[in-house]
Amino acid sequence: MEHELQRVGRAIHAALPGRGHHPLRALDQRAMELAAGDQELRAALFRFVDVTPACRSLEDLARHLADYLHEVDERPPPLQAAMRVSGTRAGRTALGAAAAAGVRHMAHRFIVGETPAAAVKPIRRLWEHGAAVSLDLLGEATVTEAEADRYAARCREALDTLAEAAPAWPGRPVLEADSHGRVPRVNLSVKVSALTPLLRPDAPEVGREDAARRMRPLLQRARDLGAHLHIDMESVNTLEATTDLVFELLDEPELSDGPSTGIVMQAYLRESGEQLERVIDWARASDRRPPLVVRLVKGAYWDHEVVEARQHGWTPPVWEEKAESDRSFEALTRMLVDARGHVRPAIASHNLRSVAHAIAYNRATGGRDADLELQVLRGLGDELAAALVAHDMRVRIYCPVGDMVAGMAYLVRRLLENTSNESFLGDQQRGVPIDELLAAP
Ligand code: 2OP
Repeated sequence: MEHELQRVGRAIHAALPGRGHHPLRALDQRAMELAAGDQELRAALFRFVDVTPACRSLEDLARHLADYLHEVDERPPPLQAAMRVSGTRAGRTALGAAAAAGVRHMAHRFIVGETPAAAVKPIRRLWEHGAAVSLDLLGEATVTEAEADRYAARCREALDTLAEAAPAWPGRPVLEADSHGRVPRVNLSVKVSALTPLLRPDAPEVGREDAARRMRPLLQRARDLGAHLHIDMESVNTLEATTDLVFELLDEPELSDGPSTGIVMQAYLRESGEQLERVIDWARASDRRPPLVVRLVKGAYWDHEVVEARQHGWTPPVWEEKAESDRSFEALTRMLVDARGHVRPAIASHNLRSVAHAIAYNRATGGRDADLELQVLRGLGDELAAALVAHDMRVRIYCPVGDMVAGMAYLVRRLLENTSNESFLGDQQRGVPIDELLAAP
């Protein structure tokens, strides 16, 4: 198994498209320098994104950014300068414009289009090149009922738009079937925090019901269109409500014959092994067709979880060492692959070792490549996606759609992940030798 893993890892590495561009160069260089290794700034950034859904303009955004950065004691010089001017209206506009330019640069690579209609063409192009997508509508942490209604309406519109376009795409057998049967062409990811303003850990049932009210019609629509609806996972304090919500809805008789649905497991959570066990137990007992897709990710809210826990004097719910998360990722991969008779495993990672491990383990246990889906994020995993397509794997690219303000929280998560000292893509860019990239965690 380890031998096959090393062989697969090297083969994928050899198929990575050449130097041309590197995803990390897409991140604004200045922003990278600022955020790398600066814990206080990272904490301020993450608190900042908690308010961005309420920002309506660039000036608004700049004012909030300046407020949050005031909490950082030692600011790097470029920020100091920016903040001196942020005390005035003109200064704020300038800071907003500078911040916006950096973010816009990042956004162009990460966001596939401003609207689902604008995304149709690039999505078709990806499909023709052998990669499927999951569309993600930017905008999260809804604060009013009206916003939640709007998000639900946008989701429905996205489903309809994609379902109208998809039949004209050419046949791509690798992307369209596995041992369980048909894999939908249309795939939408939704966030529960955007479907209700009421999702609070102290009263989970209120938010759950409010979200269910908007998610049920989306599931019905997806079923009628033969589309897949994927429920994203967010911070740990909404995890239970999210999982319960999905299971409750899928257990309703009306939704027993579809749609294809998925949830997410976050390997960085200390409790993820128990959670995955619970999910697999549910899948085994419900014997749902089409089977539940389980997307395994490392987890995108690490800074949020750690800062939040420290504020309360709690032990963070996440592994604090990268190696622990990586080992957890491999253990969960094996659990998922072992359960492939009841769930559809989707392994989402830019870490070459994690991906090679999933492929090798699936083969070693008698699985077909078709029974494993590999997922990456647009803008960060494009090269890996191309290499995996070249190896005839089923690849799905997670593609955000929306404007920059709606995308702030998403973009900052990407910034935080990829400026951490422990970023795999960072290692790859720094030219860490392949033996080290593929070493067991
Ligand atoms: C995020 O929104 C990709 O779902 C992940 O950060």
